[in-house]
Amino acid sequence: MHAGVRTHTHTHTHTHTHTHTHTQKLISKSIYLYYITVYKSVCRYALGMSGGQITDEDISASSQWSESTAARYGRLDCEEGDGAWCPEITVEPDHLKEFLQVDLRSLYFITLVGTQGRHAGGMGNEFAQMYKIKYSRDGSRWISWRNRQGKQVIEGNRNTYDIALRDLQPPIIARLVRFMPVIDHSMNVCMRVELYGCEWLDGLVSYNSPVGQQMSLPAYPVYLNDSVYDGAIIHSMTEGLGLLTDGVCGEDDFTLSHVHIGWPGYDYVGWNNNSFPDGFVEIMFEFDRTRNFTSMKVHCNNMYSQHVKAFRQVVCYFRSDLDWEATPLSFSPVKDEKNPSARFVTVNLANHMASAIKCQFYFADAWMLFSEITFQSGTAELGASSETADDPTHKVDDSNTRILIGCLVAIIFILVAIIVIILWRQVWQKMMEKVKMFLLCCSYSVTCCVPASTSTAASQSQDGAPHYAEADIVNLQGVTGSNTYAIPAVTMDLLSGKDVAVEEFPRKLLIFKEKLGEGQFGEVHLCEAEGMQEFMDEDYLFDVPEDQPVLVAVKMLRSDANKNARNDFLKEIKIMSRLKDPNIIRLLAVCIYSDPLCMITEYMENGDLNQFLSHHEPEGQLALFSKAPTVSFSNLCYMATQMASGMKYLSSLKFVHRDLATRNCLVGKNYTIKIADFGMSRNLYSGDYYRIQGRAVLPIRWMSWESILLGKFTTASDVWAFGVTLWEVLNFCKEQPYSQLTDEQVIENTGEFFRDQKRQIYLPQPVLCPDSLYQIMLSCWRRNAKERPSFQEIHKALLDLQP
Ligand code: ADE
Repeated sequence: MHAGVRTHTHTHTHTHTHTHTHTQKLISKSIYLYYITVYKSVCRYALGMSGGQITDEDISASSQWSESTAARYGRLDCEEGDGAWCPEITVEPDHLKEFLQVDLRSLYFITLVGTQGRHAGGMGNEFAQMYKIKYSRDGSRWISWRNRQGKQVIEGNRNTYDIALRDLQPPIIARLVRFMPVIDHSMNVCMRVELYGCEWLDGLVSYNSPVGQQMSLPAYPVYLNDSVYDGAIIHSMTEGLGLLTDGVCGEDDFTLSHVHIGWPGYDYVGWNNNSFPDGFVEIMFEFDRTRNFTSMKVHCNNMYSQHVKAFRQVVCYFRSDLDWEATPLSFSPVKDEKNPSARFVTVNLANHMASAIKCQFYFADAWMLFSEITFQSGTAELGASSETADDPTHKVDDSNTRILIGCLVAIIFILVAIIVIILWRQVWQKMMEKVKMFLLCCSYSVTCCVPASTSTAASQSQDGAPHYAEADIVNLQGVTGSNTYAIPAVTMDLLSGKDVAVEEFPRKLLIFKEKLGEGQFGEVHLCEAEGMQEFMDEDYLFDVPEDQPVLVAVKMLRSDANKNARNDFLKEIKIMSRLKDPNIIRLLAVCIYSDPLCMITEYMENGDLNQFLSHHEPEGQLALFSKAPTVSFSNLCYMATQMASGMKYLSSLKFVHRDLATRNCLVGKNYTIKIADFGMSRNLYSGDYYRIQGRAVLPIRWMSWESILLGKFTTASDVWAFGVTLWEVLNFCKEQPYSQLTDEQVIENTGEFFRDQKRQIYLPQPVLCPDSLYQIMLSCWRRNAKERPSFQEIHKALLDLQP
C-alpha cells in the first residue's frame, strides 16, 4: 500500500483520534509497525474542500435548497453563498436520497472526515447531527462505509459552527465520496465538509481470496475473517479491499489482537491447511495499471505454538494485458521455528511487469494468518525509476523517510559548506587582519613602517647570486616624504660609521629659484648652487658647464620636525650617499651642520615621468593633429630599459624600493631616467595611494598580492611594481592602473591573485604594446614570486627589444 500526499494540500490536522491507544500499542511492536503509526498519523492532510484545491466542478449534490446553498458552498470553514450546502427539503424521510459528493479525481487513502453546519454569521441554524458515507473507486460501484463494528452512521454536528472531525476506521480507499446526512425532519440540514488523507499511489484496486476462517481454541473461537472487506463475499472474497490493506498490522499473539473491537484474531485473515487440498491459498491482486513490481511484503503471524506459521513457499503468476505469464516466480522464505514474532516476509518480484498478480501461498503448518500485504512497484509509463510502494513501510519511505534522508543529505551538505566557508573565512580573515594591521601600522612614516614580513626565501640566479634574499631588511623613510628604500641590515651597519659619502655644502651658496614639491616633513626647492662642480663626481661633470651655477634640487627638513624625523633624515642621507648609479637620483651634497637639514640632489629638468608622458603622445597620425609633443616607441623602450637598469642596481644592493612607479621616476635631458622616491604626500598623486583613516598610505595598484596581503616587500614585489610601471609607460600615463576598479575592488582582486582560480584581473595589453613586451609585464605579475624574472633578466629582455 502506498499513499502519496495530495500535492496541492498539506494542511495537517492535529485532531484527536480514537486510534491513538491502538497505534501506541503498535509502536512497541517493531519499527515497521512504528512506520505504520507514523504513516497513519501523517496521512491526514486536508484534501482541498476548505483550501480550494478541489474545484467547484468536483463538488456535486443530489439536490440543493437554493442557488446560494449549492454543493459548491459545502466547503468546510467557508462562509460563501448562504454558508453551506443545503439539500432540498424532502417530504419523505429518506436519508439515502440526499448527498454531497466530492470527486477527488484519483484514488485517495482517506483517514478522517470533518463536517460543519450552516452558521452564516449567526443567521444559520442547520447542521447534520448524523450522516453516512458512501464511496466509490470507479464511479459505478458504491460502497457504504462501516466502522469496524459494522456501524454506518457517523455522529455529526451539535451546533452550526463547530467542526466535528471523525476518524475513519477502517480508512477508505476511494476516488468519490458522498456525505449523506441522516434527515429525520426534526430540523433542516445543511453541511460543510472536508476530507483528510493522502493520495493512494499504491495501485492495488482489489484482492480476491478465499474467505478467512474460524479457529477454535479451547477457550474461545478466533475469527480470522476479513471483517472490513468492501467487495463481494459469497464463497470467496472478490473485488474488494479490506484488512490486508487497512494499514494495521496484527500483534505477535493473534489471540490478543482485539484492540479495535475486542475479538481475538481481528487483525488477521487466516486459513486452515485442511480446507485447501492443494496445500496453498491463492490470492489475486488487481492493480490500476501495468506496473513494474520490485517486491511484495506479507505480514504473517508466526505463533508456531498455536500451529500458525508464515508460508513455506509462494508461487506468483503475473498478468500483463490479458495473458498470464507462463513461468511463475517462486520464493521460499527461511523457516523460522524459534521466533514467534509476527513479521513481514519480503518476496522479490524481480521487476515483473503486471497489472495483476496471482500468488499461491503454501502452508508451513496447520494455519496461515496474514494481516497486511503490500507491493512495491513503479508505474510502467514512468519505468522502474518512478517506484511507488504498496506497503506502509514504503508509504513512510516515500512520504517521510525519503524526506528525512533528503533533509539529512541537505543538512550534511549545508554543514560541509559551512565548515568550508568558516575555514576559508578564517584563512581569509587572517590575511585581511594582516592586511589591516599592516595598513594601519604602515603609513610609510619614519617610525612604524615595518611590514609584517620582509623576508622571503632566496632564489638562486643562474650565476648563483640570490635575487630575493631580503632577510633582515631595514626600512627607511624619507622625512621629506621621499625615499622609502628598504636596505639590508648589513648595509646599515656599514653606514653606521661616521663616514657619510657626501660632503657638507655651504648653505649660503644655494640660491632659491622655485618650490618643486612638498612632503610631510619638509619641502623640495629648485636652487642654483654655486661651485657645486667641486662636489660632483667626475663622471657627472661632463654635462655641467664649468663656471656657471648648477641647478640642484634641495630637500629641506622642516625646522620644527621632531627628533625622529631628524634621525630619519640623517639615515636617508647615509643611504642615498651610497647609491651611485646613472639611473638612480644622485645625492650631491648635504647641509647638516646647521638647521634646516638639507639634501642636495641632482635636478632633472623634465620633472617626473608621469607628468612627462601624460603631456606627450605616441608618435603617429593622432599626434599630428593634436600637435602634442611625441615620444617614439624606441624612446619609450629606452626609458623602460633605464628604469630596469636602475632597479637592477638597487636590487644588487638588496635595496627594496617599495614604491616604484612613473611618478617616482625623474626625466632629464634626452629621455634619461633616474629613479627617485618622493613619498606619497604629493597631492597630485594622492589617488594612487590607498587611504586608510584619511591618510594616503599604500600604492595598492602597484603592489604585489603578497605585499598587500602579507606585508611582504621584496625585490620580487619591486618586479611586480616594475611591470605596472611598464604598463603605465606604454599607456603614456593616460590611465591609472585598474582605473575601472575601486580601491576595495583592487584589494579583492589581490585576493583573487592569491586564490589563483583564474578569476584575477590582469592589466590589459596597452594598444601600443607589442606581445613580447606584454609577456614581460605578465611575467612580473606571476603569483609565485620566485617565478618572476629578476631585474637583470628584465633589463636584458628590454635591451633585446630595443628597435
Ligand atoms: N625633486 C622634485 N622634483 C625634482 C626634480 N625635477 N629633479 C630632482 N629632484 C626633484
